[in-house]
Amino acid sequence: MTAIIELNNIGVKFKQKKKEIVAVDNATLHVEKGDIYGVIGYSGAGKSTLVRTINLLQKPTEGQIIINGEKVFDADKSVKFSGTKLRRFRQKIGMIFQHFNLLSEKTVFANVNFALNHTQIEDEKTGKLRYLTKEERKKKVDELLELVDLTELAEKYPAQLSGGQKQRVAIARALANDPEILISDEGTSALDPKTTNQILDLIKDLHDRLGLTVVLITHEMQVVKEIANKIAVMQDGRIIEQNSLIGIFAEPKEALTKQFIETTSSVNRFIAGLSKTELLGQLSEDEELIHVDFGENTITEPLISQINKNYDVTTSIYYGNVEVLQGQTLGSLVISLKGSRDARDEVKAFLKASDIKFEDLSRIKEGGQA
Ligand SMILES: Nc1ncnc2c1ncn2[C@@H]1O[C@H](COP(=O)(O)OP(=O)(O)OP(=O)(O)O)[C@@H](O)[C@H]1O
Ligand SMILES: [Mg+2]
Repeated sequence: MTAIIELNNIGVKFKQKKKEIVAVDNATLHVEKGDIYGVIGYSGAGKSTLVRTINLLQKPTEGQIIINGEKVFDADKSVKFSGTKLRRFRQKIGMIFQHFNLLSEKTVFANVNFALNHTQIEDEKTGKLRYLTKEERKKKVDELLELVDLTELAEKYPAQLSGGQKQRVAIARALANDPEILISDEGTSALDPKTTNQILDLIKDLHDRLGLTVVLITHEMQVVKEIANKIAVMQDGRIIEQNSLIGIFAEPKEALTKQFIETTSSVNRFIAGLSKTELLGQLSEDEELIHVDFGENTITEPLISQINKNYDVTTSIYYGNVEVLQGQTLGSLVISLKGSRDARDEVKAFLKASDIKFEDLSRIKEGGQA
């Protein structure tokens, strides 16, 4: 599979008086056609700067950029995009932002129509490029408003709209020139959770229907988790980890990645709170608490019944969290094993042999940290 977006060894430095800020540091990101690629990181990590290089809103100081197989930037200056060529290139990459960036003095219709100002098509008769006629523009805007379910609000002004509706207008505008790529820079950060989900659903739906490739910047793991199939984690200008969504959740490597995952998983909050609860003290001498993480190939129920059936222990579930990400089951269980030490050890040996990850939570009892 070839990448539709290839960012190779991108560096972006800003000079400020005597200081030099390295906003992006040797970042390589390849996005394949049809990906919904989430880029996550805390404020200042360099997410916006990196992603703005995709449509050359930000020129890198190092590296090269290849879009759709065409080299559009090289720090060695061997390619230069400017004028009409740059504008036409940018039209093929739609972008939405946290604060929608709508024109407040224009109606919904006019906001979308505005994006067609420079649009040119090949004239059927002459074969030459020409601008769209008024009728062609109206037809296109109507289609776009239909697409984002805003037909009824065409004559309203941005001030009369909710946040979610404003973002729909921005999405319609971003799609005006039939881009193959849609970039969302914190497109849901100003919205409440319910509206966030509606906009994510819309993006996913447009991705499916129009074959869009999506790059989604966010500082919330919950957001990328809903729709992304791949994730890159950024810290201090660098991409510190990148993997499929499942890979990131099943086997996070970096501490920051784990932190982001914890924000979405309540089992980690449960474990973190264990040392403060009575639960550990109430376990009997022949009982221990373990945290089992199961992924792609494990199914909870058979696992628990298998343990109960094959080993001389009794299990109790204290906490369970199961979720389905892109059709695969991922989850966590906190269970106690009650039985002789040998029997408990046998269970743990079985888990190990079955490649099921688990951790011993009894150490929390000794005052350790989860
Ligand atoms: N035009 C600029 N001039 C100088 N420094 C800049 C410029 N743009 C960004 N920076 C700096 O580059 C670093 C990365 O900024 P960037 O906006 O890319 O981060 P971000 O991950 O998008 O953060 P946020 O989540 O707050 O949007 C920051 O230290 C920022 O201050
Ligand atoms: Mg940003």
